[in-house]
Amino acid sequence: MYRLATHTGLRQVPRSIANSVSRPALATPRFIQPVSIRTMMDSPYSAVKVSDRVKHDHAELEKQYRNILAAEDEDTKVRWQNQFIWELARHSIAEEIIVYPAFEKFVPNGLVMAEKDRAEHQRVKNLLYEFEKMTPSSSDFLPTLDKLWDALSDHITEEERDDLPALEENIDVEYSSKLASSFNTTKHFVPTHSHPSAPDKPPYETAIGLLTTPMDKLIDMFRKFPKEDKKA
Ligand SMILES: [Fe+2]
Ligand SMILES: [Fe+2]
Repeated sequence: MYRLATHTGLRQVPRSIANSVSRPALATPRFIQPVSIRTMMDSPYSAVKVSDRVKHDHAELEKQYRNILAAEDEDTKVRWQNQFIWELARHSIAEEIIVYPAFEKFVPNGLVMAEKDRAEHQRVKNLLYEFEKMTPSSSDFLPTLDKLWDALSDHITEEERDDLPALEENIDVEYSSKLASSFNTTKHFVPTHSHPSAPDKPPYETAIGLLTTPMDKLIDMFRKFPKEDKKA
């Protein structure tokens, strides 16, 4: 039913991962570059576990949340708001496409675990829809952000404490590394703007459009993107 960890002896990348930029370079989401993830891809140490990849994203999201709070002017707050929304959208979708199906497949009771996580994602997405429409000068901006972060940080805690360790216990290091690569690839092919050759122009001009695209359409899209990119 599920595979036991066999520890193949593949080398591990140290948990310390390069820090991200301290300030977003550009306000528009299309220019957001997952610098540290690309650094990991380029590394000869390819056996990063999927849980480490997911935890790395969580740490980045927390930094971005704190940067929104710390930003001293409206423009900087908006830049961090944009980056936080896009990174959270990409992270959530990559988990739903790669990680949660792995819970269902390999973890005893993983179906319940995945359904709980999807429900928590939905709560976070609902708050994200509200937050995306707000400007920093709005009186609801910080209360909504705090509500969003409360929901997200509870979810992150459960993923890191319960769900991801359960997955790692039931797969070997080699398979975990493959999942980490798929997670990374999926994040890369989550577009940050409309792809010109997308046949039916799905509504992902915004992070919210991306999040509201049906999951089966997104999965189809990711299958097509590598080929589309080679043509470009
Ligand atoms: Fe999640
Ligand atoms: Fe997560």
